[in-house]
Amino acid sequence: MQTKDSLKTYKIMEKGEAGACLDLAVDLVRENLKTFTHCFPDSNSRNNFYPQSDNREWTTGFWTGEIWLAYERTGEAVFREAGTIQAESFLKRIRERVDVDNHDMGFLYTPSCVAAYRLTGNETAREAALLAADNLMGRFQEKGQFFQAWGQLGARDNYRLIIDCLLNMPLLFWASETTGDKRYREKAEAHIRTAMNCVIRPDHSTYHTYFFDPETGAPVKGVTHQGNRDGSAWSRGQAWGIYGSALSYRIEKNAAYMDVFRKVTDYFLAHLPSDLIPYWDFDFDDGSGEPRDSSSAAIAACGMLEMAKFMEAEEAAYYRDMAGRLVKALSERCAVKCSGESNGLLLHGTYARASAGNPCTDRGVDECNTWGDYFYMEALTRLVTDWEPYWY
Ligand code: GLY
Repeated sequence: MQTKDSLKTYKIMEKGEAGACLDLAVDLVRENLKTFTHCFPDSNSRNNFYPQSDNREWTTGFWTGEIWLAYERTGEAVFREAGTIQAESFLKRIRERVDVDNHDMGFLYTPSCVAAYRLTGNETAREAALLAADNLMGRFQEKGQFFQAWGQLGARDNYRLIIDCLLNMPLLFWASETTGDKRYREKAEAHIRTAMNCVIRPDHSTYHTYFFDPETGAPVKGVTHQGNRDGSAWSRGQAWGIYGSALSYRIEKNAAYMDVFRKVTDYFLAHLPSDLIPYWDFDFDDGSGEPRDSSSAAIAACGMLEMAKFMEAEEAAYYRDMAGRLVKALSERCAVKCSGESNGLLLHGTYARASAGNPCTDRGVDECNTWGDYFYMEALTRLVTDWEPYWY
C-alpha cells in the first residue's frame, strides 16, 4: 500500500534517460525484425523468448505498433517497410475472418493499421482498419447499449462487456472521422457511458466484466474473468480503466470521465507494492509470492501521461510525475537490456494466473507479453516527445 507522500519518494524518469531507454528499445525492435517481419511474436514469451506466430489472438497489433514507434523515433526505411508488410497481413486477416469473432478490433488494428495510415497514408491499412471497425460494430447490443466482448452474440452466458474494451473504442471514433459516418461514434459513446456506469465500484476498484440481461438490457452483476475473484481489482483491468478513461476524456471531453480517471488511478497508485511493479491482482502485496504484471504499470503510465495534457498544472504535474516513477521502476526492474536476455522489451508480465475465483489456467506467468512491450515503448515515447497517439 502507498500514500501520496510515500509515492513522492520514488525517483522520476528524466527525459534524457527516457530517450536512452527508447533508443535501446528501438535497437531491440530492429534486431527482432529479423525474426518477426513476415510473422508475429506469440502473445507471451516462453522463458523470455517469443516463438513465432501467425496473425491471430488479440495481441499481434502491439508488435506492429512497436515497429511504428521505432519508425517515428528514427525515420528508418526498415521499420516503414516492415510495418507496411504487417499491414497487409492485417488486411488478409480481417478479409478471411481469422480469429475476429470478438471485440478486440481496436487492440489489433489501432497500433498496426491506424498507425500505418496516419504515418504513411497507407490505403491498405485504412481499408483493413475500417473493415475491423465494421466487424466490431456487429457486436453492439442495443439491449444494454454495449459491445459484447466474446462468444455467441446474444447468448446469456456471454452477454457482457469487459473493461478492456474501452481501448477498442478509439478505432470507432477514428472510423467516424475518416468516413464521415457518425454511427461508429454514436455506438462508441454509448458503450463508454454504459461501461463507466457499471464497472467502477464504490471504493474505485473495478470489475473486469459486467453482465446484462439479454431480454431487458438491465445491468446484472460484475464477474471476473482474469482477476483473483469477482470482488477484487485485477491490476491490468484497473490499468485498462485508467487509460480507457483518459482516452474517453481526450475524445469526448466529458468531465465525468476525468473524474473516473482520478478515482481509478488513485486506487491503482495506492495499491502499488514497495517496488512499484504491480502484482497481477491488487489482492496481493509484498510478501505474497504471487507474480507481477509489469504490463499494467506500462498501460497505467500511458493513461496518466495522456490525461495530464488536459488537467490544471498542479494536478497534471502529479500524474506526469507518477507516470515517470512507474516508467523508471519498469526500466530498472523489468526492461530488457540486451537481445541475449529476451526478444521482448519488458519482463515480468502475467497474461493469466489461475485462481479459485477465475476460470483461467496459468499462461505467460512472469514472461514478456506483446502489450507490455508496446505500452512500455509508448510510455517512453510520451516522456520524450509530445506524441500524437494512435488511439485517435
Ligand atoms: N484484453 C485482454 C487482457 O488484457 O488480457
